[in-house]
Amino acid sequence: MQVVRSLDELNSVLEVVWAAAVRIGFVPTMGALHEGHLSLTRLCGPCDYRVVSIFVNPTQFAPNEDLSRYPRTLDEDLAMLSRENIDLVYVPSVEDMYGSGVQISIQPGEMGKVFEGAIRPEHFAGVLTVVGKLFHRVKPDVAVFGEKDFQQLCLIRKMVKELDWPVQILGGKTIRESDGLAMSSRNRFLKQSERASALALSRALRRGQEAAIRGVKSTEELRGEMMQAVREFPAATVDYLTAIEPESYAEPLEFSATSRLIGAIRVGSVRLIDNMPICE
Ligand code: PAF
Repeated sequence: MQVVRSLDELNSVLEVVWAAAVRIGFVPTMGALHEGHLSLTRLCGPCDYRVVSIFVNPTQFAPNEDLSRYPRTLDEDLAMLSRENIDLVYVPSVEDMYGSGVQISIQPGEMGKVFEGAIRPEHFAGVLTVVGKLFHRVKPDVAVFGEKDFQQLCLIRKMVKELDWPVQILGGKTIRESDGLAMSSRNRFLKQSERASALALSRALRRGQEAAIRGVKSTEELRGEMMQAVREFPAATVDYLTAIEPESYAEPLEFSATSRLIGAIRVGSVRLIDNMPICE
């Protein structure tokens, strides 16, 4: 496994790979890797050459979000990747990524203004712009993103489709702890006393699935059932909890089999997001 830290180094390694016209699989990450990320790298299995990037992207953090608090565990990350079938890890600096400026950005449009986009207004422009830059640098055939960040995944699919980029986007299933908590780099910030309350979100989403199986049809009724599940965890507060259509991110009056249950809660200083299909 090779590790490169600059665009020049990346180009000199990839020139040979591009010339060989092999299929390149790519997993962009912000590091602090866990089993969820490793499962994404395994989806690149059918590709001939596998690239992972590790870059804590400052433009997707708002000033109040404390970029410096984001976990940075590069040595552990590289050790984990070296045990997977990875050919190249790209670890650019902020200077390497944005040295030429940050005036131009990719705007996410209406789908990027709701839910996560309403709470974090600049977030998705930062995500789409850095993903676009990484795609231009790596030129992957296939790129893999986790379903855990479902709105991000839907926006990346939309960006690639609307901008005619020749890259196939794969979504990787959310990996969960044995009690159902979705794996996330942010879980490490949960205090021991908060860990049990973090389950409020996955329990609420499961309750939504159960309600759909029982025959509930209206999104409002479904939301009520999910809110009721969160109330069993008094330390958890809800940012949103609902069903949406993945194509538009609009909330239908009556959900369908393609709808997705999405939610965000806060437990102490930690904000958690999660989602599940209506029926699995
Ligand atoms: O999901 C993430 O880790 C980040 O948003 C991404 C896609 C690597 C862009 O910085």
